[in-house]
Amino acid sequence: MSKAIQIRQTGGPEQMQLVDVQVGEPGPGEIRIRHKAIGLNFIDVYQRSGLYTLPLPLQLGMEGAGIVEAVGPGVTHLKAGDRAAYASQPPGSYCEVRVMPAKCVCRLPDAIDFETGAAMMLKGLTAQYLLKKTLPVEGLKAGDFVLFHAVAGGVGLIAAQWAKALGLQLIGTAGSDEKCELAKSYGAAHVINYRTEDFAARVKEITGGQGVKVVYDSVGKDTWEKSLDCLRPFGLMATFGNASGPVPPFAPAILANKGSLYVTRQTLFSHLTTRESTQAMADDLFAVVASGQVKIRIDQRFKLSEAAEAHRVLEARKTTGCTILLP
Ligand SMILES: NC(=O)c1ccc[n+]([C@@H]2O[C@H](COP(=O)([O-])OP(=O)(O)OC[C@H]3O[C@@H](n4cnc5c(N)ncnc54)[C@H](OP(=O)(O)O)[C@@H]3O)[C@@H](O)[C@H]2O)c1
Repeated sequence: MSKAIQIRQTGGPEQMQLVDVQVGEPGPGEIRIRHKAIGLNFIDVYQRSGLYTLPLPLQLGMEGAGIVEAVGPGVTHLKAGDRAAYASQPPGSYCEVRVMPAKCVCRLPDAIDFETGAAMMLKGLTAQYLLKKTLPVEGLKAGDFVLFHAVAGGVGLIAAQWAKALGLQLIGTAGSDEKCELAKSYGAAHVINYRTEDFAARVKEITGGQGVKVVYDSVGKDTWEKSLDCLRPFGLMATFGNASGPVPPFAPAILANKGSLYVTRQTLFSHLTTRESTQAMADDLFAVVASGQVKIRIDQRFKLSEAAEAHRVLEARKTTGCTILLP
């Protein structure tokens, strides 16, 4: 048996219930993992609220780290006793122990502790594919400007440090002056409080009127339109989240008017379709963390039983960096 956080219907955090679930033996291609820490992500909110539709009842959570207890037939990259971490479908990491597909589970290097592993897999692999694979047609080189919204959050602080390591000039937005200061101390070259400043005007000012090559936008509805005005001709609008609500439908002609722009809507899970691609991305993440160039900042810790409160705090924009749940 395991304690787990489940929803029976979509809605607010009050739908999240601590329940007891049966945990069996891993089948072919599966492992059983006992969590030491669990990562909290904004996608958990979309799945809880019903913005992303999944079968019910649903055990929430996409990220965790712990010890492999058993492996099913055909699993060769993990064995019982291994330290491991993952960002993976299907949801279900809000629990003490679970059986899950092994494909996206990676051995955790000894130098990385469980809390860091749980905090960084989904957010760090996202920063990886954004900065390394979600590129404008002209590519990105040292010195280029990019704009990254919600830069003081979980994905944001990782991206700020990684962008700096790549030599990029990352302009970050955040919802308070304190968050802006934090992001600056984590490598953002410039910061903008988008609650009090016109971020498009500031981006133009910072870039000498040129605009940025890429906007990485996970805020969605509230920032979409102005973000297009931050791009240089042929720039890339990379939308990857909906913290303020989904981007509304738009007419493609707007992209022509603003300089023949490109738009992509990315999800991490398109990048994690094979064991090989997952491991390659994870190795890149482990290396940048082990080198000290990217530090995983955990600012909030909750007990698993307090997961609903963790959701409330995340949705109220009261968090910075990463948040974990402890079983
Ligand atoms: N597509 C993918 O592959 C992928 C993967 C991982 C994450 N994501 C997305 O990336 C974003 C960051 O994820 P995260 O887990 O690290 O969360 P997070 O950034 O720690 O938290 C979300 C932040 O969004 C900002 N925000 C702006 N408007 C908001 C609103 N109306 N309500 C709530 N928050 C608002 C807040 O920062 P300020 O107060 O500074 O505005 C808030 O702290 C999320 O949108 C998530 O869905 C996408």
